[in-house]
Amino acid sequence: MGKYIIAGNWKMNKLPSETYDFIKEIEKVTMGANCEVVCCTPYVNLTEAVRAAKGTHVKIGAENLHFEDKGAFTGEVSADMLCDLGVDYVIIGHSERRQYFAETDETVNKKTIKALEKGLIPIVCVGESLEEREAGITMDLIAIQIKKAFANISAEDAKKVVVAYEPIWAIGTGKTATAEQAEEVCKGIREILGELYCVDCAKEITIQYGGSMNDQNAAELLAKTNIDGGLIGGASLVAEKFAPIVKACD
Ligand code: PGA
Repeated sequence: MGKYIIAGNWKMNKLPSETYDFIKEIEKVTMGANCEVVCCTPYVNLTEAVRAAKGTHVKIGAENLHFEDKGAFTGEVSADMLCDLGVDYVIIGHSERRQYFAETDETVNKKTIKALEKGLIPIVCVGESLEEREAGITMDLIAIQIKKAFANISAEDAKKVVVAYEPIWAIGTGKTATAEQAEEVCKGIREILGELYCVDCAKEITIQYGGSMNDQNAAELLAKTNIDGGLIGGASLVAEKFAPIVKACD
């Protein structure tokens, strides 16, 4: 299946002045990792994050980008700006951005296309709310999110995309999806990608699980066939909590 990637999503946490030392700590505790280690930080922390990660195994990501190249978009940040800093990854369509910042499947698609065009690796987030899960429409909803996110993206490019399945009800709640629930949806995502592209193409795409992943549940989740990594919020802010998740990829 896809390459194992464990990515931290710092969200709106940590100061720029704390970033260099923290990335160095992450480097130390994840030395010899059997997976790609990524830290996604707020925009203003990126310069320090990239400086600290330079020449190490740690990769740096942003948490968002704008889909236009440049222009009158006050407060926005372009893919070129991220590339210029030396950023490798970018989270797109996190449920918090969909919920609070009017992100839609259409903007997710535009941003994914832009990231790929500029050589950034997009981590595209999809996931259902508790209401949607209880209504039994999880897979229908995920199918729409995936199909719209991958619209007009070639198979060659699709293989570079990382998909993060993050059930909204599990994010920051301490309520993790069971390994079976997570695997069921991740398997479904791979099947949809197989239909959109080809079965072998879908096998190359990294599919992460995210939502209260921690040192206690990571190994069980990561042991599932269709779970190739994690997008980690809370546990990515403490090196000692992040390291065991990376280790669980062994
Ligand atoms: P959490 O966040 O690990 O704190 O649940 C995951 C995410 O939102 O990416």
